[in-house]
Amino acid sequence: MKLVNAFATPIAVKHYPKASEINDALHRIILSMSREAPSDDAGRAHVGGWYSRGGFLARKEPEVTQLQGFFSRSLRKYLAGVVSEEFAQAAKINLHTWVALTQAREYQPPHVHAKSHISGVYYVNVPDCPQPQGDLEFITPVGEQELDFFASISATSYKVRPRPGDLVLFPSYLRHYTHPFFEGADRSLVVFTATCY
Ligand SMILES: [Fe+2]
Repeated sequence: MKLVNAFATPIAVKHYPKASEINDALHRIILSMSREAPSDDAGRAHVGGWYSRGGFLARKEPEVTQLQGFFSRSLRKYLAGVVSEEFAQAAKINLHTWVALTQAREYQPPHVHAKSHISGVYYVNVPDCPQPQGDLEFITPVGEQELDFFASISATSYKVRPRPGDLVLFPSYLRHYTHPFFEGADRSLVVFTATCY
C-alpha cells in the first residue's frame, strides 16, 4: 500500500541566536515609532494594538540590518525545504515588513495575509504569561477534518509558543490568530509577508 500524507502545511520556527544582542534595541525602536505615528489600522485584523506602515527593513539601525539578514537566510532555508534547493537559491524575494506593539488584552483575531506566499513573525519582546496567553494559533486549512477523522492525527489547530528571538514562518494562506495576554510588559513583533518568484 502506498500511503501519502497529502496537504501538509509547512510551519517553521527558527530562533535567532544573536537575539539577545539586538532585541532590546529593536524594542526601543518600535516603542519610539509608536509614539511618533498613529497606528496604521486600515484593512488590518486587530483588537487594539499599534501597527506601523510598511518599510521597516529600510531603516538604517544596525540591529534592523542584522534582522534583515536573518530573515533572508531563514526564508531561503524554508524555500529549500518546501520547494527545492534550486528555487531557494534563485528566487527573487520581495518583503513587505511592518512592526506591531500590543499591550494586555489586545490581540489579532483570525485572518490570513492575502497577496503573498510566505508570512513571518519575529518576536522581539514577549511578556511572561501562562499558556495559552500570547500563543500564535494556526487553524487547519483542511476544514473537513473537523467533521470526523481520528482527532489524534488531524488536529484542527496548532499552537506555537513564541520566545523572544523566534521567527515563525508559514504559508500566507494559513488562517491564524493570537491569544491575548492579560498582564505584563508590551509585546513587540516584526512581521512580514514575502512574495517569491
Ligand atoms: Fe497575521
